[in-house]
Amino acid sequence: MPKITFLPNADLCPAGKTVEANEGETILDVALRNDIEIEHACEMSCACSTCHCIVRKGFDSLVPSDEQEDDMLDKAWGVEPHSRLSCQARVTYDDLEVEIPRYSLNHAKEDH
Ligand code: FES
Repeated sequence: MPKITFLPNADLCPAGKTVEANEGETILDVALRNDIEIEHACEMSCACSTCHCIVRKGFDSLVPSDEQEDDMLDKAWGVEPHSRLSCQARVTYDDLEVEIPRYSLNHAKEDH
């Protein structure tokens, strides 16, 4: 069973957390099942970018993004080459290390 390590995030999991995932689950599903409340404003329909995460390890093992996800990611705040929308990124066989950005687009204006 692959494991996902969520890196420390001050709001969502201050100490970080390593949890088990099932193949085929999305990163967001795994997070929510483990009480890590990543935002998901569009209810996982690939129509927002609030569920943006950065996959620090295991990126290549994920089911690749499609065009719609890439288009939405373009609008996310702080996108990096290993960014994914966590509601679309499906786990396969490999362990992952995932960073949840401190601020999603919804919060960007509150930054101080
Ligand atoms: S929850 Fe909106 S794209 Fe993931």
